Amino acid sequence: MKISALLFGLLACAVTATASAQQAIVIKFSHVVAQDTPKGKAAGFFAKRAGELTKGRVKVEVYANSTLYKDKEEMEALQLGAVQMLAPSLAKFGPLGVREFEVFDLPYIFDGYADLHKVTQGPVGKQLLAKLEPKGVMGLAFWDNGFKSFSANTPIRTPADLKGKKMRIQSSKVLEEEMRTLGAIPQVMAFSEVYQALQTGVVDGTENPISNLYTQKMHEVQKYLTLTEHGYLGYAVITNKKFWDGLPGDVRSELEQALKEATDYANKIAKDENDAALEAVKKAGKTIVYVPTPEERLAFKRALVPVHKKMESRIGAALIQSIYKETGFDPNKL
Ligand code: LMR
Repeated sequence: MKISALLFGLLACAVTATASAQQAIVIKFSHVVAQDTPKGKAAGFFAKRAGELTKGRVKVEVYANSTLYKDKEEMEALQLGAVQMLAPSLAKFGPLGVREFEVFDLPYIFDGYADLHKVTQGPVGKQLLAKLEPKGVMGLAFWDNGFKSFSANTPIRTPADLKGKKMRIQSSKVLEEEMRTLGAIPQVMAFSEVYQALQTGVVDGTENPISNLYTQKMHEVQKYLTLTEHGYLGYAVITNKKFWDGLPGDVRSELEQALKEATDYANKIAKDENDAALEAVKKAGKTIVYVPTPEERLAFKRALVPVHKKMESRIGAALIQSIYKETGFDPNKL
């Protein structure tokens, strides 16, 4: 009787041990945009591949649309270990103390995705991600979204049309300077609050890649959208360094592979997602979409490129120059 009780106990222990050995490592991946966006889809893709490649040893739970945390909170939550992965916009790293990421916000610094990839997929991008480590954060990859355009309830044809307008921006000093240079009044606001702020007139306008504008229904509360494509918005996929370093080596490699695939996927779909969103905005018929003429585009460029020089002391002249070198951009030739 005693022996069988002992055997039963041992068996129970073995079952518990197996169960806990099999218990999945949970990665909470929080973000602020809709699922149906480049970032939302890439996060879903990563979750699926992480599960497959680790054969269920890792379970990635994706929380979209600020359901878990808003912009500022999500950064703090990652540092505290309450979430394990995020993909904040590059414009949101200033509050973490990494100002250099704001280089991506400089107006017109990239003339399209090809220019951008020279940076995000090259040595400059690597050096930038490495700057996160002293903050306990590990930079894993860059994911594309797209180029921002201005929207408002009044037509935008010239830089002067934004004078005096209250414009919602992300938490970046470069974006603040961009708006001030146009004579607009910048208002930093969490992404989750933008629709309501536009609807109630707390702000007059904003700037977004079209996938963000459309999936948050901002086009329903913005009468005019001008395709200025004056600045880039994309993401750094980040994790809590302690968490990442503590993963079993084989699991970490499988996650790296899943992330590599998700990054290729994200960067492949981003442009198409934005193009499709633009078509959807046009079809919805609530917003007048205006394509600036080359002369009008040049006027915006001439008005906004001086922001580069003004922000040198914040971002670092050498970093700005290293991007010019990669892309061939010359601020003196406009
Ligand atoms: C914004 O706040 O406008 C964007 O950063 C949202 C996002 O994550 O694309």
